[in-house]
Amino acid sequence: MRCLKALFLATLLVLGLMGDTHALCSHGNCKLRQVCLRTADCSAGLFCSTCVADGDMLSRCHRYRTANTTEINGNLPFNRYAWLTTHNSFAIVGEPSHTSEPRVTFYNQEDSVTAQLNNGVRGLMLDMYDFLDDVWLCHSLKGVCYNFTAFVPALDTLKQIETFLSANPTEIVSIFIEDYVKSPMGLTKVFAAAGLKKYWFPVSVMPKNGQDWPTIREMINNDYRLLVFSSNRTKEATEGIAYNWRYVNENQYGSAGMKAAGRGECPSRAESAAMSTKSRSLLLLNFFPDNPLQPEACKYNSAPLQAMLPVCYNASGNRWANYLAIDFYKRSDGGGTFNALDSLNAGLLCGCPNIDSCKFNLPYGICNASSSTPVPQAYRKSEGKANMNLSFGTYALISLIFLLIS
Ligand SMILES: *[C@@H]1O[C@H](CO)[C@@H](O)[C@H](O)[C@H]1NC(C)=O
Ligand SMILES: *[C@@H]1O[C@H](CO)[C@@H](O)[C@H](O)[C@H]1NC(C)=O
Ligand SMILES: *[C@@H]1O[C@H](CO)[C@@H](O)[C@H](O)[C@H]1NC(C)=O
Ligand SMILES: *[C@@H]1O[C@H](CO)[C@@H](O)[C@H](O)[C@H]1NC(C)=O
Ligand SMILES: *[C@@H]1O[C@H](CO)[C@@H](O)[C@H](O)[C@H]1NC(C)=O
Repeated sequence: MRCLKALFLATLLVLGLMGDTHALCSHGNCKLRQVCLRTADCSAGLFCSTCVADGDMLSRCHRYRTANTTEINGNLPFNRYAWLTTHNSFAIVGEPSHTSEPRVTFYNQEDSVTAQLNNGVRGLMLDMYDFLDDVWLCHSLKGVCYNFTAFVPALDTLKQIETFLSANPTEIVSIFIEDYVKSPMGLTKVFAAAGLKKYWFPVSVMPKNGQDWPTIREMINNDYRLLVFSSNRTKEATEGIAYNWRYVNENQYGSAGMKAAGRGECPSRAESAAMSTKSRSLLLLNFFPDNPLQPEACKYNSAPLQAMLPVCYNASGNRWANYLAIDFYKRSDGGGTFNALDSLNAGLLCGCPNIDSCKFNLPYGICNASSSTPVPQAYRKSEGKANMNLSFGTYALISLIFLLIS
């Protein structure tokens, strides 16, 4: 007992010394990376979570939503923005089985598509299959969906997207379909049934030779607010569904892509033109491993993701990416995916190290040098004692444990 008591006293002392008592955070005002007990301790836009994979046992306030970049400047071409994209957006932890069998497969996300959209996700990767006389979202093998790999009918998810687009008349969403649907007009029918045709960005208006896309404002005014890309080349002619790699260059996905980035390389995936091919004006970066594990995601969604951005910028002929495709997008050891997205947007919008130093009345690349905001970066554990500030709740808990033991 005496030993435990001493240990807790020591812990309390160490934490107290490392924390800055002038900046103790209380309910609702813990800042990024400050220690928290629950999300209610964190300020707006942050939630309380851990990143044990990074060797950090304490829960801290981490970002969970994007900045509203079009609020800063909504007058640029669509290809001058970066959009957070969820890989396998439908493979959601906790999604109950909708067939006669329990599901046996892997998961890439942890909140509903509606929640993803509300947190600022604007790109959705959906794998679509013919299944049970309908189109389903499924994780599967060789283009065949099974009861034990099926998630939900595509219509359910597409309806969530329709609800979001109709409630948010200035937002634009992109869908990337890994397309195994062969039933005649299968995709057209399901998109029409979901009420999404009215937002359809026409293939005829998509730039085909590296030109700029219409501006955000033009897309809103025309209600061209849904971009749909398919992996099946034939549907562009037959159903007006854009063939993904005619418009988008995409790097190698999975663990191979992550390893390449670590070596300073950004190869394209097999179906895509080379990253540097300028006849495509959109770029998509995949950054997720072959086997998605939620507890690991906070680690690779942070410093390694940030480090990949300049590598792929280089490989893409000095162009910043427009889509960042991620597993468990909220998991980070600080700003994670969201900071990476801010960096891309600063590069795309104004060619500056951060959005705050953009000067939209001056030419691209001329920045406000006196801006005080640092370049957004993944946080590192060594980043100062401000990170160790404890919430009042944490102090109370430690003190309580101490009292119980003594
Ligand atoms: C983002 O900002 C634009 C422009 O002010 C606004 O119309 C839009 O509703 C905002 N989006 C969200 C999700 O808050
Ligand atoms: C798959 O699930 C559906 C819906 O529950 C059911 O009708 C069908 O019989 C199942 N198929 C197999 C092969 O178990
Ligand atoms: C692409 O779609 C067409 C029309 O539905 C279908 O006939 C074809 O088999 C599909 N191709 C692939 C590779 O799935
Ligand atoms: C970009 O490419 C140049 C020339 O190939 C190289 O010297 C530089 O190190 C590269 N930078 C990054 C961040 O990969
Ligand atoms: C430059 O940044 C400083 C500090 O953030 C700010 O006060 C000033 O208004 C900015 N100037 C311009 C032209 O944006």
